[in-house]
Amino acid sequence: MALWGGRFTQEADARFRAFNDSLRFDYRMAEQDIQGSISWAGAIASVGIITPAEHDALVAALKDLQEEVVRDPASIAGADFEDIHSYVESLLIDRVGDLGKKLHTGRSRNDQVATDLKLWCRAQAAVLADSIRGLQRRLVDTAAEFRDVIMPGYTHLQRAQPVVFAHWALAYAEMLDRDWIRLDNAVRLMNRCPLGSGALAGTAYPVDRDALARELGFEEATRNSLDSVSDRDHVAELLSCASISMMHLSRFAEDLIIYNSGESAFVELSDRVTSGSSLMPQKKNPDALELVRGKTGRVYGALTGILTTLKALPLAYDKDMQEDKEGLFDALDTWHDCLDMCALVLEDMKIRRERTLDAAKGGYSNATELADYLVSRGVPFREAHHLVGELVVYAIGRSLPLEGLSLEEFRKVSPVIGEDVYPCLDVKSALSKRAAKGGVAPEQVDAAIAWMRKHLAMDVAD
Ligand code: ARG
Repeated sequence: MALWGGRFTQEADARFRAFNDSLRFDYRMAEQDIQGSISWAGAIASVGIITPAEHDALVAALKDLQEEVVRDPASIAGADFEDIHSYVESLLIDRVGDLGKKLHTGRSRNDQVATDLKLWCRAQAAVLADSIRGLQRRLVDTAAEFRDVIMPGYTHLQRAQPVVFAHWALAYAEMLDRDWIRLDNAVRLMNRCPLGSGALAGTAYPVDRDALARELGFEEATRNSLDSVSDRDHVAELLSCASISMMHLSRFAEDLIIYNSGESAFVELSDRVTSGSSLMPQKKNPDALELVRGKTGRVYGALTGILTTLKALPLAYDKDMQEDKEGLFDALDTWHDCLDMCALVLEDMKIRRERTLDAAKGGYSNATELADYLVSRGVPFREAHHLVGELVVYAIGRSLPLEGLSLEEFRKVSPVIGEDVYPCLDVKSALSKRAAKGGVAPEQVDAAIAWMRKHLAMDVAD
């Protein structure tokens, strides 16, 4: 049954109803709709629309209903109502009779849905913040476990300089830390309550909107009713948080897909997160990671979708805005699942340290060390860079690593080179030299692991 039959003489077309109804997805806000209704009952009681006894009866019925919907929210989805607001109101009327019809006094579905959705966003953000922290914790454990696994670091996907696996894992822990802060900021920005804004012009009853806002866990009431009912910034913002974080996860996925490939064979993904080929018996495919990479597009799609829907929408509420929910729900679910899946992938991933070490030693990734050695012998860096380039070409021609060249061969290019060049070309020496903050030297990596562990234990922004 619709909430607005009086003005209509014809039944709505069944096809229009199916097109217009939102219960099949907005049922997910059932708990928040009831929470908002309980507070609204308090607001209208405070201005004498309902008596204290009526208030108590309404609240008791709403609380019963809340218990039921929390138990099985999905069962609501198929019910024959326009949206979650009509569903809750109709059930309330079934239970308390005409008293239930008083609840909507001074309220519109426009301020109601805006409030429900903000409450939902806030609750969901808390769940996501936990998942971010979960993946960060997993990354730190991985870093600690593979603290001294030497592997090549890349730029342009060319072996550049050696790093350790821990440093790679901590890079993602850092990205996720910014994701967490971004989400925290987004929640702060959605901390004003639209309830009591009416349809668009404000409610005609003198309710204390700030008190109402605080009761619902907001800091204060919104300041402008037109803005209140038309604002969906929080949806766009959460989707932006999700998109940036998914961009990080897709890079994580791509790195591991490459490291897991036959060509690199640095890591071996567990059977628990891979699948086989129906045709080629030898295959073990990195499906979990490919799906994380693939689902990133879908989350970006939701962000683009809401920005496009809101673009040039006239104030205040328009039904276009009902399109805010499906993309948001889907994208946040996806983000949540991907965070958890990335943590699962790390859980029993194996690293083949001899492969990563060989690769780190190859590819002339100690060329910078040789240039730095020449600098220590008084050669200006630009010139050193050039000389090392010549030595690399020479070594490539003989299929030798730099440390495979004889002293005479080195000296032909630069006579300042002495026997002491060889220890400098060692991969461990390359690591330990990078001891400034944020570098890959063992003591820096240990400090980074310790800092991140402490930071995660405190669970605050900085
Ligand atoms: N289902 C609607 C939505 O999600 C609720 C608000 C309806 N308001 C209205 N004036 N029709 O946006």
